[in-house]
Amino acid sequence: MNEQETIYGEQLSELEKACGELMTGIEVIRENIKGFLGMDPVEHLLSRIKSDESMREKCRRKGLPETAESALTKIHDAIGIRIVCAFVDDVYAIRDRILTLPGVELFEEKDYIRHAKPNGYRSLHLILKLEAGYFAEIQLRTISMDTWAALEHHLKYKKDVGGDVGLIVGELKRCAEELASTDLSMQTIRDSIMK
Ligand code: GTP
Ligand code: MG
Repeated sequence: MNEQETIYGEQLSELEKACGELMTGIEVIRENIKGFLGMDPVEHLLSRIKSDESMREKCRRKGLPETAESALTKIHDAIGIRIVCAFVDDVYAIRDRILTLPGVELFEEKDYIRHAKPNGYRSLHLILKLEAGYFAEIQLRTISMDTWAALEHHLKYKKDVGGDVGLIVGELKRCAEELASTDLSMQTIRDSIMK
């Protein structure tokens, strides 16, 4: 698709550049933590510019006109970054360092790790306001939380889920709690190894 044809219009390349710069900052943080921890704190790191199609769909869902202005000022996840860590402490260590990056300002934070969603979803969400004027949504979570979110996402969009939906929702929530408890145990094990 020609860049003039996307909802981002001629700002697409600036948006991609801002995303790239933020990713560079995160890579520096990652290397820095790796240096003193002796292990990579990040299991995987992904970034994406929200596709034209899903941005338009989100505008419609929120009753906003399908314009670059809506996409870049009213919606805050045109730039999306996901950072998946093995350990909960690394999630918060990376979060703290992201907030010290130059040209980065915290706009909003949702801590669904300390306060899980009722369905069991856990993740730390940061909405950043970048110097370039764009917003970026960063999702930080552990491998367990990521696995859970992927499965839950899959089931949510599978319209014809067979079986007892109430039971499935309850089981998913139970799994989320077991995974969270395992994350805590893993963190404790690492702490005692590192001591
Ligand atoms: P919008 O989704 O942008 O309207 O904002 P919101 O206020 O709902 O933000 P929230 O921080 O709750 O969610 C933002 C993103 O987090 C979503 O687009 C998903 O990628 C992810 N997310 C939030 N809740 C869930 C959940 O229950 N399950 C899964 N799998 N992902 C979730
Ligand atoms: Mg949402």
